[in-house]
Amino acid sequence: MSRNRVAYIDDDLLSQKFVSNKLDSEFEVDTTAFSSNVEALRYINNTSSVNIVILSIKDNNESFKNFLENLANIHREFLVILLVDNPESVEYIPKLKGVTFEVVQYNNVAEIEKVFQHFGILKNSTIDDKYDKLSVDEISRFDSFAFDIFIRINERKYIKVINKSDSFGAITLKKYIDKGLQYVFVERSNYSMYINQVYEDVTSFYEYDCISSSLKLDGQLQSIDFVYRSLQGIGLSQKSIEIANKTMNIVLSDFKKNKSLWKLLTEKLNDSNYLTQHSLSLSYLTSTVAHELGWNTRSTLEKLVMASFLHDIGLNNHELAIINSFDSEDFLMLNQDEVDDVTEHPMRSLELLEGVMELPPNLESLILEHHERPDGKGFPRKKRSGRISPMSCLFILCEVFWNKISRDEKNMLNRKAILRQMSKEYDQGNFRKPLEALIRVFGK
Ligand SMILES: [Fe+2]
Ligand SMILES: [Fe+2]
Repeated sequence: MSRNRVAYIDDDLLSQKFVSNKLDSEFEVDTTAFSSNVEALRYINNTSSVNIVILSIKDNNESFKNFLENLANIHREFLVILLVDNPESVEYIPKLKGVTFEVVQYNNVAEIEKVFQHFGILKNSTIDDKYDKLSVDEISRFDSFAFDIFIRINERKYIKVINKSDSFGAITLKKYIDKGLQYVFVERSNYSMYINQVYEDVTSFYEYDCISSSLKLDGQLQSIDFVYRSLQGIGLSQKSIEIANKTMNIVLSDFKKNKSLWKLLTEKLNDSNYLTQHSLSLSYLTSTVAHELGWNTRSTLEKLVMASFLHDIGLNNHELAIINSFDSEDFLMLNQDEVDDVTEHPMRSLELLEGVMELPPNLESLILEHHERPDGKGFPRKKRSGRISPMSCLFILCEVFWNKISRDEKNMLNRKAILRQMSKEYDQGNFRKPLEALIRVFGK
């Protein structure tokens, strides 16, 4: 019988890890976790074996309705488990063809397991009760482990391959990964130690850097973690990160002095892991490319970082920040409200800022022009390449590049091909120089 494939959507990193591991360990399922509805939908659409969707809607009341409608439009059968703070208070369960709903209390894995059993999903009979299964992708980020690690030889026989605190643990593990190993095992009594190690790893990322001191945002561990990993993945140097960090600290501490601006920004960012990732990543990318171009005066760098944080705050659904253009696949999947949200957001971002800060002219045009395109098919003004300011061209290129590569790991590895593709479209007018710089930095 084929295994069930599960998409688990929750913006809490620790819950993601905990629930996915637990379900994979207990049942004959493979679980992939997502923070964003848009990413999950893309995965479900492209992966025909996904038949179970677990969606946390603890604080996401509006966008989940669109998500479910889009899910039903895929026209396959799904079991959808909604995780909510209070199952009694759920009023809206849509009737959608092919979709069966169950509602479960958030953070209650035992309840999810009951639903699985009710729907006949098989227990993982091949795993000894004494062990929990961990995916090697999850643990390969650690150098050493606070617990022993085992591999399974057959249904009953497990052998220890890494001793706890073995300083060569990561090297040993890599050998097994190279041989195609997907899972390792820990003794069940040590599972909580594993969770602690994950927690410490994630929080150390958060505390590691000066951004965390400037940008004290609750629940954003995952965003910052994701951004660092991605930046390392595309080869951004430690030096570039430090340069951008410095500028970011100056900008954020200036924002902080303006109480109403700071309130607006932190509300928007706290509301959305996605927007935080997007803003941080663009700050790093735009600062790095500006340096490469020699456009590294303090005022230029500051404007680029300011625009990175402010350009999309007018979006009601922050996940739509990934939309690059009107003719992209994502755009074609939107309903009318979402289309309006996308097309109006550059103007709305400006309007939101009008009341809280005086915008320097360059910053205003960066925000307004960030969706213009060289062929005049962008919005809102349909400007052509010669009429878009060079700084906006730099910003647009960084955003398009980031939105393309951050979609999945495959794209990150294919960044050279993505840059080649972008060259065809952007090698004109004021885009030319920043494009060349982007390729020099990331096309290696
Ligand atoms: Fe945007
Ligand atoms: Fe954006």
